[in-house]
Amino acid sequence: MDVFDAMETCIAMRYLKEDLVPKGDLERLVHAATRASSPANSQGWEFIILDERDLKTEIGIAVAAAMGPLMDALPEAEDGTKQRMYDGTQHLLKNFAKVPAWILVCGRLNYPPEDPSEAMMYSTIFPAAQNLIVAARAMGLGTTFTSFHTTVEGVIQKRLDLPDDVIPCVMVAVGYPDRQFMPVRRRPTRDVIHWNGW
Ligand SMILES: Cc1cc2nc3c(=O)[nH]c(=O)nc-3n(C[C@H](O)[C@H](O)[C@H](O)COP(=O)(O)O)c2cc1C
Repeated sequence: MDVFDAMETCIAMRYLKEDLVPKGDLERLVHAATRASSPANSQGWEFIILDERDLKTEIGIAVAAAMGPLMDALPEAEDGTKQRMYDGTQHLLKNFAKVPAWILVCGRLNYPPEDPSEAMMYSTIFPAAQNLIVAARAMGLGTTFTSFHTTVEGVIQKRLDLPDDVIPCVMVAVGYPDRQFMPVRRRPTRDVIHWNGW
């Protein structure tokens, strides 16, 4: 698949089939992620792949307990798009353990060496994570970025034995799509380009 077609249709796929994704394909996604650029090639990324059912169940229960009240407190969706997003997020939460694999993309505070900053860490992680989801799309896999890990940091740290200096940045659901891929909706290019100044 052409890379532009992959980016054009790389929507957040919150409905995933239960079919297992081969470990080799998950490793290929991490390979794609690690082709990304990072400041001075510092590569402060780590990838924790969760594909064991019991582990996913345990973490899913913790995430659902933490996120339930947050989801209940959401204001009413102001349009159908937002409502579909809320519904999709609820579905993903409810089916956390059935998602074939979760990839927790983590960062290390390693750049610049003399005074590492969080900004540099995130500037490493998100190009890699975006490579990962575009590669997944090209392989016919659906993904969704989530912030689910932020609600259960202690559980994740302990259950996954994360070293203190490894910081979870984004938790990506991966599986075969159970809905159609479609074009992403974004602001038109003409509205965001500023030639030679604002
Ligand atoms: C850092 C980050 C965190 C996100 N967290 C969530 C999340 O917790 N739950 C969710 O359903 N979608 C999450 N998303 C996905 C966005 O909501 C989604 O990409 C956006 O609404 C645009 O929709 P589209 O990608 O389908 O076009 C996240 C995206 C990013 C970049």
